[in-house]
Amino acid sequence: MPLPNEFIEQVRDANEITSVISSYTSLKRAGRDSVCLCPFHSEKTASCHIYADTQSFYCFGCGAGGDVINFIRLIEHLDYIESIKFLAQRANIPMPEDSRDKTAEAKQKMLEINRQAARFYRDVLLSDKGAPGRQYLLQRGLSENTIRKYGLGFAPNSWDTLKSFMLSKGYTEQELLDAALLAAKRPQNGQQGGERLHTYDKFRNRVMFPIIDRRGNIIGFGGRTLEADAPAKYLNSDETLVFHKRSSLFSLNFAKNTREKFLILCEGYMDVISLNQAGFDNAIATLGTAITPEQARLMRQYCEEVVISYDSDGAGQKATMKAINLLGEAGVDARVLQMTGAKDPDEYVKKYGADGFRLLLEKSGGAISFELKKLTVGLDMDTPEGKASYLKKAVGLLASINDKIDRMVYINDTAKLCGLSAGEIEKAVEERRRINYYSAKKAETRELINPTKKKGSDYMPTSQLTAREKAQRGVIAFMIHSPDLLPKTEKRISLEDFPDEFCRIIYQTVTDRIKNGQNVDLSSLGNEFSAQELGKITGIIQENNLLPYQKERLDEYIKVLEEHRDKYGGKDPSELTDEEMLAYMEAIRKKKSGG
Ligand code: GTP
Ligand code: MN
Repeated sequence: MPLPNEFIEQVRDANEITSVISSYTSLKRAGRDSVCLCPFHSEKTASCHIYADTQSFYCFGCGAGGDVINFIRLIEHLDYIESIKFLAQRANIPMPEDSRDKTAEAKQKMLEINRQAARFYRDVLLSDKGAPGRQYLLQRGLSENTIRKYGLGFAPNSWDTLKSFMLSKGYTEQELLDAALLAAKRPQNGQQGGERLHTYDKFRNRVMFPIIDRRGNIIGFGGRTLEADAPAKYLNSDETLVFHKRSSLFSLNFAKNTREKFLILCEGYMDVISLNQAGFDNAIATLGTAITPEQARLMRQYCEEVVISYDSDGAGQKATMKAINLLGEAGVDARVLQMTGAKDPDEYVKKYGADGFRLLLEKSGGAISFELKKLTVGLDMDTPEGKASYLKKAVGLLASINDKIDRMVYINDTAKLCGLSAGEIEKAVEERRRINYYSAKKAETRELINPTKKKGSDYMPTSQLTAREKAQRGVIAFMIHSPDLLPKTEKRISLEDFPDEFCRIIYQTVTDRIKNGQNVDLSSLGNEFSAQELGKITGIIQENNLLPYQKERLDEYIKVLEEHRDKYGGKDPSELTDEEMLAYMEAIRKKKSGG
C-alpha cells in the first residue's frame, strides 16, 4: 500500500467536497446537494451534481464523477497520490514520511528474499538432498547446462527447511509469508490466545522453476511435484507485491534478446525449457493461466508475430482460439503450430529433434487456416454430406476476410479440401459478402444486448440499460455498499456472469479487495482505477443509491444474471448460431415493445 488508509480517510474528511468544488466553479444549492455547470465538458445547463451525503460528485452529461480526490485528479491533472498530497496540503496535514519509498523498499526486500530462496533451492538441488530432483530433471532430458541457465532448484520434502534457512538469514516470518514462500494455517477456532499463525514451507518435494522478469529479477516460482498422485502437478507462487501473473511471461528474460522476429508461445515451463535447450531462445509461456490482454501487449513489445504452440489436446486447441483473439486485439499477428505424434512441444522436440520442430514452425499457418481446419472437426470429409456441411461453415469464415488476395488464397485451400472448384466456392463467398444479411442483423442485435459505449461520453441513462446490465451494475453497487454480502453472492454467480468487460474488472477488483480485507469505498478504489473509470463507478453507485439497499433487490439482480446464464447455456451472444441469434433477437424485441 502506498499510503495508509487512515491517512487517505483523514485527508478526505478534511476536504469537504462541496467547499472544494466551489473554489473551482459556482454552485447552486438544491436541498442538501448542489449542482453546477460541469467543469469537465461544455454545457449550458447544470448537470453536475454534488452529493453531500456520500461526499461524491457525478456529471449526468459526461459521466465524470468520484470522490473529492478524483475531482482534484481530473481538474488539476494530477495522479492519485499527487491528488492526495495536494489535498493534504490544502488542509495542512503533513504527509506520512515518504510512504512511496516504503513500497519501493518492501519490493526491493522481497526481490532479495526471492533471490536468496532461489539460491537455496539451487544449492539443495546440487546437494545430496537434491538427488530426487536432479534425477527427475536429467531423466526429463535436461542438461546440466540448461539446469544452470534456468537456475532450477529443488524444494526438499520437509515442512520447514526453507523457513529455518531464511529465518537464520534474518528475514521475518511475515516477510516470508508476504513473499508467498510460506503458507499459513490459522489456529483452530476456540483455541485460546491462538492469534499466532502456524506457517510452513509452501513448496515441498518439488523441482523449482524461478520466474524471472525482463529486468532479471526473480519475482516468483513454479514448482513441479515429483509425486504421480499429487493434487496439483504444478504449484505457482501466489500474487505478491512483485509477482503479477497476468502481466508476466516465463523466459521473457531470454526471449527478449532473441534474433528471431517472432515468439513461440507455449503452455508449460517444460515446453519452454526444452525448446531453449534445442536452440529456440524465443519460447515463452504464461504462468499456469490462460493468456491475458496484458501478456499479449507485452509480447507485442518484443515481436511482430507470435507462433501459438499449445498442446495438441482438446484443451490446447480451445486455448489456441482464445489466444488468436487476444493477440489479434493486441495487434500481434498470430500463426498456429500444429503437431501430430506428440502432445506438446517438449515431447515433440525430444522425439523429432530441433530440425523436426523447425519444420513445424515453417509449416505453421495463419490464424485463418487454423480456424478453417478446425471446422472439419467432427465431419467426415470423405462423404458429400461432410463436405457440404463444411462448406456451409467455411463460406461464412471466408466471407469475413476483407483482403481480396488473402480471400482467394484461402478459397483455393478450401477448394482442394472439398474437391470443388475454386470458382464455385468463390461465387458462394461473394454472394455471402454481398448479402451478409445475418451478420448485419447480428451486429444490430449485439448492439441491443450490449451497446458499445461511444467514445467520449460513456454515460448512458439508466432507463436505457437492459435488465442484464442493470443487474451487473446493481451487484457491483451492492458489493461496494455491503461487502459482507459477498460470500453469499459468490456462491451463486461468478465473473463469467458479467458480460460487460468493465463490470467484470470492477467486480473482480472489488471482490479481491474484500477478500484481502481492504476497503472498497471510492477513495480506496481510486488507487486501482483511472480517474475516468472512477467516474463510471460513481455512476453505477449513483443510480443504485436511488433505491434502498435491501437484500431482496440484490436477490433480483442475481436472479437476472442466473437466468441469462441458464437460457443461453453460458454462451456469449457472439457465439450463438444465426438461428439462435435471430430467435434471441426476436425475444428481446418482444420484451422491449411489450414494456
Ligand atoms: P509436464 O508434465 O511437467 O511436462 O508439464 P506440462 O507443461 O506438459 O503440463 P501441462 O500441459 O499439464 O500444463 C501446462 C502448464 O499449466 C504448466 O506448465 C503449469 O504452468 C500449468 N499447470 C499444470 N498443472 C497445474 C496445476 O495443477 N496447477 C496450476 N496452478 N498450474 C498448473
Ligand atoms: Mn509436458
